[in-house]
Amino acid sequence: MHALVQGASRGIGLAMATALAARHEMETVFASARRPAESDGLASLRDRHGDRVQLVSLDVADEASIAAAARHIRERVSELHLLVNVAGLLHEPGVAPEKRLEQVDDAALARLFAVNAAGPLLVVKHLAPLLMHERRAVVANLSARVGSIGDNRLGGWYGYRASKAAQNMLTKTLAIELGRRAPNVICVALHPGTVDTALSLPFQRGVPEGRLFSPDRAARQLLAIIDSLEPEDSGRFLAWDRTTIPW
Ligand SMILES: NC(=O)c1ccc[n+]([C@@H]2O[C@H](COP(=O)([O-])OP(=O)(O)OC[C@H]3O[C@@H](n4cnc5c(N)ncnc54)[C@H](OP(=O)(O)O)[C@@H]3O)[C@@H](O)[C@H]2O)c1
Repeated sequence: MHALVQGASRGIGLAMATALAARHEMETVFASARRPAESDGLASLRDRHGDRVQLVSLDVADEASIAAAARHIRERVSELHLLVNVAGLLHEPGVAPEKRLEQVDDAALARLFAVNAAGPLLVVKHLAPLLMHERRAVVANLSARVGSIGDNRLGGWYGYRASKAAQNMLTKTLAIELGRRAPNVICVALHPGTVDTALSLPFQRGVPEGRLFSPDRAARQLLAIIDSLEPEDSGRFLAWDRTTIPW
């Protein structure tokens, strides 16, 4: 089996790549990041597993970079059985979750949509030929509960919420198309819970006791869901405990 963890330099993605590399049935784990050479976590994973872990440069906000990464992977394997789109953005210099309307900024909105919504779909676009085969394949897009429109009771975080809602729509639409063209491919949107990473660090106050997961625990929970998915699960939005989240 061959897997790609897209966005594996740190956080949940690094934990997922680590857990997958420990599985004997995994022949190759491609682990992508914008600058994989700068990730100590990826360097030590590669040291432990040698060529079974392949580091790939990929920036989800740059389609040419996605296309180049896909070419690199296609030169090495003829099938992928798991693609986890992990890369996501909540804050970076120039991008911060908005508390009020006056803080909404067009450049920040565009950046959030590029990374969180368009990026995962473009990765599937370029890797689809490797996913359409006779065996089971899973595309798992890491989403967020705050991207649920039905569950939005607090408001705020316009750009992040809307970009994850858009990502959810793209995942659902993809699941419908692939359900016709490639029924072996199961596509889902997954909410990892609140996980102790750089992304959530400024917002961890108020997380109930026992509900701030380590990246390793989050990876374990997400992989348990991925392992259990059946074709009829394609197009679903599932939380870390396998409950369905309303769109
Ligand atoms: N942590 C939580 O509580 C939480 C809750 C709900 C949903 N999520 C979702 O879970 C996913 C992982 O989050 P995390 O907490 O692990 O975040 P994180 O620790 O901040 O890691 C984010 C990852 O995304 C990558 N990334 C960001 N922009 C990228 C780009 N343009 N191209 C390629 N890679 C890029 C980062 O790589 P670089 O090293 O290149 O920056 C890093 O590997 C995200 O989609 C997030 O929205 C997280």
